[in-house]
Parts: sequence; structure tokens; C-alpha cells
Amino acid sequence: MSKTAVLQQKIQEAQLGGGQKRIDSQHGKGKLTARERIMLLLDEGSFEEIGMLVTHRSKDFGMEREVYLGDGVVTGYGTVHGRLVYVFSQDFTVFGGSLSETHAEKICKIMDLALQNGAPVIGLNDSGGARIQEGVVSLGGYADIFHRNVKASGVIPQLSAIMGPCAGGAVYSPAITDFILMVENTSYMFVTGPNVVKTVTHETVTSEELGGAATHASKSGVTHFACANELAAIEHLKQLLSYMPQNCEEDAPVYPYEIGQEKREKLDSIIPENPNQPYEMKEVIEELADEGSFLEVHKDYAENIIVGFARIAGRSIGIVANQPASMAGVLDIDASKKAARFVRFCDAFNIPLLVLVDVPGFLPGTDQEWNGIITNGAKLLYALSEATVPKITVITRKAYGGAYDVMNSKHIGADMNYAWPTAEIAVMGAKGAAEIIFKREIAAAENPAEKWKEKELEYTEKFANPYGAAARGFIDEVILPADTREKLIKAFRMLETKVVVNPKRKHGNIPL
Ligand code: HXC
Repeated sequence: MSKTAVLQQKIQEAQLGGGQKRIDSQHGKGKLTARERIMLLLDEGSFEEIGMLVTHRSKDFGMEREVYLGDGVVTGYGTVHGRLVYVFSQDFTVFGGSLSETHAEKICKIMDLALQNGAPVIGLNDSGGARIQEGVVSLGGYADIFHRNVKASGVIPQLSAIMGPCAGGAVYSPAITDFILMVENTSYMFVTGPNVVKTVTHETVTSEELGGAATHASKSGVTHFACANELAAIEHLKQLLSYMPQNCEEDAPVYPYEIGQEKREKLDSIIPENPNQPYEMKEVIEELADEGSFLEVHKDYAENIIVGFARIAGRSIGIVANQPASMAGVLDIDASKKAARFVRFCDAFNIPLLVLVDVPGFLPGTDQEWNGIITNGAKLLYALSEATVPKITVITRKAYGGAYDVMNSKHIGADMNYAWPTAEIAVMGAKGAAEIIFKREIAAAENPAEKWKEKELEYTEKFANPYGAAARGFIDEVILPADTREKLIKAFRMLETKVVVNPKRKHGNIPL
């Protein structure tokens, strides 16, 4: 056989992974192969493979007889919408995509290149975890990856799509990356699967219940996106990348935009007359962002707060917004954790922040206190306070108590703070406030209920408006809702050259 023919044979062999039968089985389960996924993700013809001829070194349990070129992971680089990315795609047809020493080395190699050359890493995960036949070397391989994930955190974006059952070590690398996407019904994430759960805790649970996309999107918050199928997951990855820079030294891509009619009259009638009536904050976001540009992150988890990417006049921003339509927009443990993590991503990658405030305060109760609302609420306070990207706040309605401080107040470093005329900035709601501070007067009144109402009105007049805060400069301007988008475009432009120099330190100590 000629030398060229040998090479061609090896390429064919590598492309077959664990063999046609196993590829058919993968397809039969509604799953694509590792290579098909890469081809769909990257621009046509842009993929350059690295390490196609790598094989495992294991000789135990008959492994020397089962050798597959590439060793269960396809790695390399290419472009998405013309921008460089590094990618690894695990091949479930080879030992269930399990991670051997050499499989890990291949992933580490592209992670090192990504970090050195300042471009995102995308992991397409489909793996049964550490390769059981290899013992400690595969555990070491995982740790090598985890260590690189941590080193790259905040330097280059790291995205993980979960395309199949991911167990054991296969879930911890994604957990350290910036965003996780899961495919509904065909992907799972768990540290130990249903069989181990049954043995240890005697619980009977299906894979889907234990670690399916719906579970992790709504219950645990482990995944940021639950996608209907693999194609949708890949499209989501591409869209997500469009809001991000290549690395922490760069800015996100700017989309062409010509300033036109920026008034959004619909916003003038969005706040209900009754301050206790909910409204949909996503409608506010849709009006403020460039048309169709809002990509919600963590949609089904802690719905009382909204986070996501959008563009304003072509430039990427991150949005954090209380959601009055869910639990009145109250801040609780999950909402604080969700928003804090998102804020830190935006800050690490130079994506300015817009914070929309309508918050009645922190959620009271034993459940919240015993589970640590103090530590967890402090995460959001810390994250917004430490963020040095341009930060703009718009208070649409309530900004009560500690939540006023936390939600990007002037005092914690926001650059521009706007309020709508409907804003109420106070220590607490008027009813509760009147009850506490006029307790004796109310009790002594002939008609206590009437007195209470009278005192509530008095408190409302004094504090349930934005003017006290504006008089002190805590609010820079009280604006008409319809003018908000125009104000934001101008203010974000004004802040483009913002520079903040922090005191020297190794790193802060966020309350984890
Ligand atoms: C070697 C493995 C493997 C593994 C699966 N396979 N997992 N080989 N090491 N970890 C092989 C199977 O033997 C099988 O080979 C093929 O992959 C497909 O697996 P199936 O079980 O037939 O597929 P499925 O029914 O879809 O189930 C997938 C699965 C299950 C849920 C992932 O295989 C599973 O539970 N695997 C073990 C998961 C696990 O406990 N991993 C933890 C490892 S410890 P054949 O030849 O029959 O096709 C770990 C610790 C790291 O990761 C800790 C770091 C913090």
C-alpha cells in the first residue's frame, strides 16, 4: 500500500469512531455523531482537526485489542461566524465517550491553545465519565482539565453543550465553564446515575428526573439553557457567542446600527395604576433592546429575576431585571445566585450592565434564613459592587430596603441611575412603614383603620416617589419611560471609555 493510501485509510478509520454499528445506534437514539455536531457548529470548511491519530495506552482488561483512532474525542479549531473557536466533541461510540489519559491530553492541548491565543473553547460533551479500565490516570486526566478550566475562567469564554448522558467527572468540567446548554430528552447530567442512587439511598428515579434538561433548567439551575434538540442547542451556542468578545482583553462584536426613532411610547403605559399589580418586565426589555436581540439566560430558574444578553444600538449588554410577574420580583437565594453569576460573567468579559429595578425587598421566612439568604443575597451585592464595566440602573417602580442598595444603586458604583416617575424608593412599603412608625398614634385613634390609612398616605407622599433620591443625587434623572431607550443609548456611549483602577490584591473573597 502506498504511503498516501495508508494515510487515507487511517483518516477513514478515525472518522468511523467506534464503528458503523455504534454510529447507527447513536442515530437511532436521535443523537448526532461527534463529527456531525462539529460540522453543524463551525463555518463550512473551517474545521482543522488536531490529534486524529491519538490512541489510548491502556493494556488492562483486554484494552490492547480495542484501539480506536482519536480515542473517543474529536478536537481542533475552526470559526463560528468568522471568529476563531476551539472545540472538542466527545464520541459516545468509543467506550461511551469516556475519558482516558490520552482523551484528556487532547482536550488539554486545545484548551492550552485557546488560552494562549485568546479564543473561546466549546465542549460538546457526551461521556460516561472517567474511563473505568484506566483507573487513576483517567482521574488525573479529569483534574488536568478542571485545572485548565479554572485557569481559563474569566480569560476566555468557555461554553459546554451536553449532548448525551454525562456522568461522574464529565459534569464537573462543564460546571466550571461559563454556560451550559442541555438537550431535552437525550442528555443527562449527574454525579451518580439512577442505579447508584437506588443502591445508596433506595430512591427510585429515572435519568430524566434525576438529571435531565428540564430538571437542571428549573430545579437545580445547573444548565442555563434547555434546548428542544441538538440542532437548537448548536444554534444557541452560535447566538450566545455573538454577544461575547474573544477574550477578556477585547470587546464584544458591534453590530451595525443607525440611530433613528428611539422613543418607545408603549413604555408610558406599562406600569399599572395599582402598585401591587404585576406586569411583564420582559415587555420592558423588548422595548429597550434592539429589536429581537434579547437572549434570555436561565429562563426557567428563579423566574423572579431575569438575566440575559441583548444589544443596544448594536452593542452587547447584559441585563439583570426584577420580574414583578413572578413572586412580585422579590429577591431570594436562587435569584441572587443566578444574577450574581451572570453579572460576574459580563464584568469579566467587558459587557456593560443594565439593571432594571422593581423589587419589594428580600424574601422573608425560615426557609430563606436557614438556607442562607444572608450569604447568598450578599453574592449579588458583591458582584454588582465589584463590577467595573459600565453600569446603568433604571428604577421602574419599587426599590425597597436592602434590595434598593443591592440592585445597582449609585452607592455601590453604578454610573448612571434613572428612575421613572412611578418609582418608589423607600425603606419599605407604605402600609408596613406606617404600622411601625405610627403604632402608638394608630392605636390611640378613635378609628385606627382610618388613621392607619391616613398615615400610609402620608408616608406614600413623602417616600413613594423618586424625588427624595433625586434631590440627593442618588438618582441622576427622573425620565419618562418612552425616553428610556434614547437615554440608554447616549449613556452607554458616554461610558464606553470608562476606566476603573482597583486597589492591588490577589483576588476578592466573594461570599460563596
Ligand atoms: C468505560 C464506559 C464508561 C466508562 C460507558 N462505557 N461508560 N466505558 N468507562 N466510564 C461504555 C459501556 O461499557 C458501553 O460499551 C458503551 O460505553 C455505552 O454505554 P452503555 O451503558 O451501553 O450506554 P447507555 O445505556 O446509554 O448509558 C450511558 C451511561 C452508562 C449512563 C453513561 O454507561 C454509565 O452509567 N456509565 C458509567 C458512568 C459512571 O459511573 N462514570 C463514573 C466514572 S468515575 P459497549 O462496548 O458495551 O458499547 C468518574 C470520576 C471522576 O468519572 C471524578 C472527577 C471529579
